[in-house]
Amino acid sequence: MQPVDFRRQLVLITGASSGFGVHFAQQFAARGADLILVARREERLRELADRLETGCGIAAHVVPMDLGRIDAGTALREELERRGLQPTSLVNNAGFASNGPFHELDQERLRREITLDVAALTDITRTYLADLRATPGNFLINIASIAGYQPTPRLAVYSACKAYVLSLTESLWYESRGTGLRVLALCPGPARTEFFDVAGPAAGGDLPAMDPEDVVAAALRRLDQKDPSPAIVPGPINKLVTRAGRFVSRRGVVTITGLITDRAHRRLD
Ligand SMILES: NC(=O)c1ccc[n+]([C@@H]2O[C@H](COP(=O)([O-])OP(=O)(O)OC[C@H]3O[C@@H](n4cnc5c(N)ncnc54)[C@H](OP(=O)(O)O)[C@@H]3O)[C@@H](O)[C@H]2O)c1
Repeated sequence: MQPVDFRRQLVLITGASSGFGVHFAQQFAARGADLILVARREERLRELADRLETGCGIAAHVVPMDLGRIDAGTALREELERRGLQPTSLVNNAGFASNGPFHELDQERLRREITLDVAALTDITRTYLADLRATPGNFLINIASIAGYQPTPRLAVYSACKAYVLSLTESLWYESRGTGLRVLALCPGPARTEFFDVAGPAAGGDLPAMDPEDVVAAALRRLDQKDPSPAIVPGPINKLVTRAGRFVSRRGVVTITGLITDRAHRRLD
């Protein structure tokens, strides 16, 4: 497979105002890629864009937009076409979780979560997939999670959303063979971003939190490989967690993840 030539890339990053999105932007810019930065908080995107344009000599386009809609891909394409921008690669990173027993969580919030984490990601991918495949050496990265590998009580909807993202991305990896497009599901464990401010502090259970910079660096190293496999789980403990499920019954797996999240919840009480 042709290596990624970052200097000819215009990478669309959703959720670029904090966490992994910022680190993707920084690490792509350091390799010479131009960027399209999308999120709701415009001020943050502008600060990041200014810093990267000055520091790395790249072009960074700021697109403030709420992607929490099922036609997010169409809306984004209309806005980008209006500005004459056609991305070559895509990182579907925007997402959030809701921590707590399913029946206690706010119903409207759950609708927004599924819309952003699943529907918008799917629509943006469907909108741009043909363009991404047009030139060999482009890439699609979807951010799933280790929560996508097994059901996670207290994160039931989030875990199901990320199982969807992982499954979708692995299928697209297969369907994209021979097109020259690199397709990767990035499946982090807990990382020190604003994720837990939004989801609630117990959402990570007892797993150690990684530095988001290291998570993104691991994804880029995988992208550099000649023929990258469809999913990456950064961090040895996270890898162990995702593999342990293969040796336990489904009843066993959900009981273990339930006990872990119960314990994390009790500790905060
Ligand atoms: N951190 C972890 O422990 C962890 C672990 C596994 C997977 N993940 C996944 O990693 C991805 C990035 O999360 P993060 O950890 O970097 O968390 P974060 O710091 O909270 O970043 C989330 C990003 O998504 C954007 N976003 C949220 N709602 C949006 C909306 N309606 N429209 C547009 N953008 C929206 C936010 O920007 P605005 O608020 O400005 O819109 C922000 O830039 C998510 O998909 C998350 O599920 C995180």
